[in-house]
Amino acid sequence: MIPIVIQALPSSLSEARQIAARLGVTSDEIAIHKFPDDEIRVTVKPAAAVVIVYAPLDHPSDKLLALLLASDALRQGGARRLVLVAPYLCYMRQDTAFQPGEAVSQKVVGKLLADAFDRIVTVDAHLHRTHDIREVFPGIEADNLSAMPAIADSLRATGFDQATIVVGPDSESEAWVSDLAARLALPYMAARKTRHGDRAVEIELPQPEAVVGRPVLLVDDLVSSGGTLAVCARALAAASASSIDAIVTHALFPPETMDEFARAGIRSIRSSNSISHFTNAIALDGLLAQALENEIGKITPGTSDE
Ligand code: R5P
Repeated sequence: MIPIVIQALPSSLSEARQIAARLGVTSDEIAIHKFPDDEIRVTVKPAAAVVIVYAPLDHPSDKLLALLLASDALRQGGARRLVLVAPYLCYMRQDTAFQPGEAVSQKVVGKLLADAFDRIVTVDAHLHRTHDIREVFPGIEADNLSAMPAIADSLRATGFDQATIVVGPDSESEAWVSDLAARLALPYMAARKTRHGDRAVEIELPQPEAVVGRPVLLVDDLVSSGGTLAVCARALAAASASSIDAIVTHALFPPETMDEFARAGIRSIRSSNSISHFTNAIALDGLLAQALENEIGKITPGTSDE
């Protein structure tokens, strides 16, 4: 059995290949067949002693089930260690029952994945009331990497106005915004957000005077409907920011949302490739490969000949 391979869910093979090339290992696609009744058949490639499964968890309903089936097939095939690389982790925002009767999805999904994998590597997971990613995945190893160093490198490479202020749309964004601002030696501000519904949010800038006549870099972990970013941009434009550009780790929104962003005054939007998206501008393969390097050392002597 070969010691280590990467296997990727369909649509993520090119990102998986970039990581595999950095690690010097092979990569393959996990095949998924959808039956007429919407059930799926998952077919993995031959297992290695260590299998790294690459799967950004957008479209979670389909992908979570595919991962559970793939994990079982890989274990049946002899894999001894399964590492899930999910640069975007779904279901992290419901970390409590906001209303009586609501399922705490972060806990449920965390346990499902912890039962199926030995280690989980992710990027900028949305942890609010949960402070440590290891609380989400009981009993296994888990790493929550930050895309901010890669985002800062990309901004340095493309250039940015030294008068820029970095703004986050809500209190949860403060960790990312303060980190990025410190890396670029820029000031920052985190707005206050009240959510009224899936697409309805209200945003208040604590010091609107701080953005007058200045370029703003709007930063968030995740853009889903785009409501948060658009409402925040409107508040910044109303406060007379001179320009608004956005950078996010995880972009989930459809292309049509770009019109709304433009109307709100957003000049450009860039994302990391944690999810394959038309706004991708920051590659995470270097960050992820570095976090996976120790997997090569985890193969015990003799394993590769069995
Ligand atoms: C929540 O706190 C997150 O950081 C994002 O701000 C939020 O999930 C974005 O969602 P939407 O784009 O739907 O407003």
